[in-house]
Amino acid sequence: MRHTTFRQLEVFDAIARRGSFTRAAEELCLTQPTVSMQIKKLTDSVGLPLFEQIGKRIYLTDAGKALQASCHEIFESLDNFEMLASDMRGLKQGKLRLAVVTTAKYFAPRLLGPFCTLYPGIDVSLKVSNRERLLERLGNNQDDLYVLGQPPEGLDAVYEPFLDNPLVALAPSNHPLAGQRNISLARMAKEPFIIREPGSGTRMAIERLFSKHKLTLNVRMELGSNEAIKQAIVGGLGISVLSRHTLALDAAVGQFVTLDVKHFPIQRQWYAIYPAGKQLSVVAQTFLEYLHSAAGQVNEIPCHFAEQAGACPLNAVPPNPRSGSRG
Ligand code: PGA
Repeated sequence: MRHTTFRQLEVFDAIARRGSFTRAAEELCLTQPTVSMQIKKLTDSVGLPLFEQIGKRIYLTDAGKALQASCHEIFESLDNFEMLASDMRGLKQGKLRLAVVTTAKYFAPRLLGPFCTLYPGIDVSLKVSNRERLLERLGNNQDDLYVLGQPPEGLDAVYEPFLDNPLVALAPSNHPLAGQRNISLARMAKEPFIIREPGSGTRMAIERLFSKHKLTLNVRMELGSNEAIKQAIVGGLGISVLSRHTLALDAAVGQFVTLDVKHFPIQRQWYAIYPAGKQLSVVAQTFLEYLHSAAGQVNEIPCHFAEQAGACPLNAVPPNPRSGSRG
């Protein structure tokens, strides 16, 4: 492949991503015959077909898939070099690909706003998905940094805690348990419970606590979003446990209360995570440093809520007290 050009790899990657020669040609502002010619030359130098066409769709062959993985490494390494060169010229410029779990969307954009103002040359993309899907992205090295509520087990990753993430027990304000002190977990387990979908980190933390105490929740409903759960609580469908961050800026805050349940709040933290061995770009490192200094500015939620028994203030975690690598 000594005569392969960078342009050929770009054309190949665009076809692989867009699944079509026409769309790749549009994206790269090339004519379709030029795209076909570049791919013919690339295929000749590889000596194996890179695509196969079934019906109207184009699929990567095994050789094509392997070449796509190599392309990503080459492009990432060049992106990193570009960012390093900008940094040497005294500029912070480049791309930051950030992926966060669903619940982190309540504070991540508020942290990103001032970061983008501070570094206008940095383009940020933010992907939001639940824990399970985020770990898949981490396994495939699709982003620069990940924000999750618990370091992954069985994945070799570097993790840095930067903000407290208490999970609180929530009920409608007219609930019979509202205002009671020191409610037992066993009593809570009897209440109809609304729980997040499988694959959610919040759900995982709740299930761990109850199974540690050999209790089973009385699950009435499973919902795939924190917002839907809050609506269901207000609608009287049951109680639930959510991150206290989900209550920030919430108009419905007066309509539910935190319950004073033993072992609550579940004390968790937010972690910034990346695969061990990954060479962080200058931009990703800049964001990581910023995260530690800015986490404390995440808005406190309204005081009357914090005063409810069991709740605790949201605190920034000092830089790197427990960062490490987990296999
Ligand atoms: P979730 O994750 O949004 O997938 O529930 C939150 C967490 O891990 O704390």
